[in-house]
Amino acid sequence: CPYPARLRNVFSLYSFLLYFTEDGQKLQDVLYELTMETSVPIVFVQQKQIGDYDKTLKAHKEGKIQKLLETKGHDHVQDSYDYDLIVIGGGSGGLAASKEAAKYGKKVLVLDYVTPTPQGTRWGLGGTCVNVGCIPKKLMHQAALLGQALQDSRKFGWQFEEKVKHSWETMTEAVQNYIGSLNWGYRVSLREKKVTYENAFGEFVGPHTIKATNNKGKEKFYTAEKFLIATGERPRYLGVPGDKEYCISSDDLFSLPYCPGKTLVVGASYVALECAGFLAGLGLDVTVMVRSILLRGFDQEMANKIGEHMEEHGVKFIKEFVPTKVERIEEGTPGKLKVIAQSTDGREIIEGEYNTVLLAVGRDACTRTIGLDKVGVKINERSGKIPVSDEEQTNVPYIYAIGDVLEGKLELTPVAIQAGRLLARRLYAGATLKCDYVNVPTTVFTPLEYGACGFSEETALEKFGEENIEVYHSYFWPLEWTVPSRDNNKCYAKIICNIQDNERVIGFHVLGPNAGEVTQGFSAAIKCGLTKAQLDNTIGIHPVCAEVYLTAARASQYTQKLGSRPRRKNR
Ligand SMILES: Cc1cc2nc3c(=O)[nH]c(=O)nc-3n(C[C@H](O)[C@H](O)[C@H](O)COP(=O)(O)OP(=O)(O)OC[C@H]3O[C@@H](n4cnc5c(N)ncnc54)[C@H](O)[C@@H]3O)c2cc1C
Ligand SMILES: NC(=O)c1ccc[n+]([C@@H]2O[C@H](COP(=O)([O-])OP(=O)(O)OC[C@H]3O[C@@H](n4cnc5c(N)ncnc54)[C@H](OP(=O)(O)O)[C@@H]3O)[C@@H](O)[C@H]2O)c1
Repeated sequence: CPYPARLRNVFSLYSFLLYFTEDGQKLQDVLYELTMETSVPIVFVQQKQIGDYDKTLKAHKEGKIQKLLETKGHDHVQDSYDYDLIVIGGGSGGLAASKEAAKYGKKVLVLDYVTPTPQGTRWGLGGTCVNVGCIPKKLMHQAALLGQALQDSRKFGWQFEEKVKHSWETMTEAVQNYIGSLNWGYRVSLREKKVTYENAFGEFVGPHTIKATNNKGKEKFYTAEKFLIATGERPRYLGVPGDKEYCISSDDLFSLPYCPGKTLVVGASYVALECAGFLAGLGLDVTVMVRSILLRGFDQEMANKIGEHMEEHGVKFIKEFVPTKVERIEEGTPGKLKVIAQSTDGREIIEGEYNTVLLAVGRDACTRTIGLDKVGVKINERSGKIPVSDEEQTNVPYIYAIGDVLEGKLELTPVAIQAGRLLARRLYAGATLKCDYVNVPTTVFTPLEYGACGFSEETALEKFGEENIEVYHSYFWPLEWTVPSRDNNKCYAKIICNIQDNERVIGFHVLGPNAGEVTQGFSAAIKCGLTKAQLDNTIGIHPVCAEVYLTAARASQYTQKLGSRPRRKNR
């Protein structure tokens, strides 16, 4: 029977004893006589009969149970633990979970602490996304797009004489001011929701017990019935001479007080390509050093088109090289650095001089210094990631984990938020809905944005077999780009359909302006089981880029119909 377990999650403070007896019927008869209830569990609070599962949940939602507990002045949690829930990490996931838990009357503490980068950069409450991730990245991407818009605007009749210049300092100050307002907003909203917040580093020291150390080294100890690990990740370093001394990471870039100048970006995934893209868009001389391929895990046709577009717009790529040493050759802001790099086949050594070296070579989960060994939480020793059940529960039943620390899950803000909210609802509101990690849309904010949902062509081929998938694709030219006459037919749309399943759309890919907005809409349709026939029967909006996916839309010079691509074996 699932109901006792569900109630147990709602009222995490109580424990249930389940008796399995041979004469269960007799027991049930007696229970019925005493309570007139026909189903178990039958709940009593402070000796008052509440009723079965439904009645209990209703009383809980109406606050009646809480009231009963308060009037009698007997709160079991208060007696045994300091908190119902302690959340370690006040980022996207941790904040969402803590506020949701507090909504159901739970006593919640959030610990958030930012360990400064090797360059000394630190920031406020809110985690990666707000301070050193999605938010400053998208704003700087927008700054770069505006530069392009300025160029386009001349063709649309705007006249301006003076040479346009960009001020890194003005942009960074404006972005940081906005982030400051978000940090403040988070503190206010925690207070409003009655979540206790401490700016302290959390570390397990024993079962149900945590040590919180603030930036002055002052230690406090707290206990809780349940814990949530939401400590996220931090940028990885190369482990070569000069990396921590002279290089920066994305944790430093968005608040860098001076323009980085000629920049080498090391790495070829989301962070690397997005940062390289907006730095180049701001007019800087940018080189990307790629160890193997662009955007591992993404559809490689799309990834290579992103690379080609960046190259056409001035970004240089050094492929199949890795840095082996970074030396400072000139002090300053920025100074000058010498980078020595070796080809991945070990045959060639090259050198280059840059003002800034930005390392974007992946991120490590913040799990190795938080005392997980003291409480027995298992991590993947190689990656540091935490494996969890489909209910985000670790191997230690009272400890949960969400967000970027999870093994095998997507590292995206909305994913961390959704997992956090749903977990709190399951723990404290009797809900059963689990976080669905399938068909999560994402966007890479490179100069030519890339939105994706579902399978890449490679994974679809591998999973379903070539004979079972159909790929439809088309280049397109956004109307807005025709007058300035740029990037003709560089945008690209592709969908992958499963022939065996009514041509269901299992992969959606778009390379073009506002790719995130476009992908968001289609991802909802994909979640509902979108098929090619349904796409064909959908009337488009004209003139927009997304109509390229709808063959019912009008085909024109700049928006062609999606055409089916010959299968590989026929090519
Ligand atoms: C440059 C960049 C750009 C990104 N862009 C996007 C994007 O456009 N869209 C998107 O969806 N995702 C993006 N992401 C990913 C997104 O930021 C993360 O997936 C998201 O922030 C993860 O949330 P989280 O709650 O797991 O961790 P985080 O948001 O990282 O929060 C963890 C918090 O815990 C704190 N902490 C760590 N250890 C402790 C401890 N022991 N005690 C107390 N506090 C601790 C950390 O300082 C941090 O504040 C980007 C990431 C980066 C780096
Ligand atoms: N727009 C968004 O939604 C967004 C933006 C940014 C980040 N994020 C999230 O943040 C996560 C982390 O992104 P990420 O870009 O930091 O990491 P990542 O996806 O792990 O990619 C790391 C990159 O660094 C390279 N690399 C690793 N070690 C290297 C070395 N020693 N020398 C040279 N290159 C090396 C890798 O190359 P190989 O391929 O050769 O291994 C890869 O290109 C992503 O998974 C994503 O979910 C999301």
